Amino acid sequence: MVTIESSPQVEIAREEPPSRGDCEPILETRDVRIAYGANEVVKGVTLSLPERKITAIIGPSGCGKSTLLRGFNRMNDFIPSVSMQGQILHRGEDLYAKNVDPVEVRQRIGMVFQKPNPFPKTIYKNLTWGPALYGYRGDYNELVEKSLKQVALWDEVKDRLRESAMGLSGGQQQRLCIARAIAMQPEVLLMDEPCSALDPVSTSRIEDLLFELRERYTIVIVTHNMQQAARVSERTAFLDRGVLVEFDETDKVFTQPAQQRTADYVTGRFG
Ligand SMILES: Nc1ncnc2c1ncn2[C@@H]1O[C@H](COP(=O)(O)OP(=O)(O)O)[C@@H](O)[C@H]1O
Ligand SMILES: [Mg+2]
Repeated sequence: MVTIESSPQVEIAREEPPSRGDCEPILETRDVRIAYGANEVVKGVTLSLPERKITAIIGPSGCGKSTLLRGFNRMNDFIPSVSMQGQILHRGEDLYAKNVDPVEVRQRIGMVFQKPNPFPKTIYKNLTWGPALYGYRGDYNELVEKSLKQVALWDEVKDRLRESAMGLSGGQQQRLCIARAIAMQPEVLLMDEPCSALDPVSTSRIEDLLFELRERYTIVIVTHNMQQAARVSERTAFLDRGVLVEFDETDKVFTQPAQQRTADYVTGRFG
């Protein structure tokens, strides 16, 4: 009784049982190459991400993790020097095809950044602004409550929804940013080192949250924290100097990697 009441977001997460094939790929890359000007930093990456699982992308600083991640929702479009070859597919649809609207891609495939970046607006507005832009017609109060409950922030902020989001702590701001991404009703959440600016307590709250969110969303998380990758993810991709060295079940990557380079990295011999 007490347990059920104290974790309403768990109940919500279980409302919709996963109905699609367990391992159906939701995102695929085919020989993806991404360059800044002449500097190719992602060098022929082919991978297939399973739905409703957490995939971690690990690798040394500068190996192309963020660049690859931004490819998944066309955030690289904002960088003028970027060029891409190969294909990135969402449910088999080429995300870079001529008829595809990048704004719509970013609604389906949301992103959370390293540094919490709430809009300098109220908590409420942070959650409703995006949905309003794309013409959400549902009940906004409900949307706000539901999104905040999914990130376990509702109880902390329900009495200050009309106050500025900038008054929240760093950890709360990051959960708000996750709620803001969720309010857009995406299928996939991309997270680029979402805990690296947070203290250990806030970090573990976000990690707990990831476990609940994976029931509903496919999550791709970039992290340079290998313990975090081992704790939260089911699949791990190891990227080194733009090359996908290994991609497998997380347990396997950390305990019995197929490549020596992976073994060296996960045991801390370089990086
Ligand atoms: N906007 C940019 N313009 C030019 N080079 C960039 C830009 N962003 C990243 N790079 C370069 O691309 C490489 C990969 O960067 P990045 O994807 O950020 O790696 P990671 O996230 O693994 O640290 C690095 O050498 C970096 O300097
Ligand atoms: Mg990065």
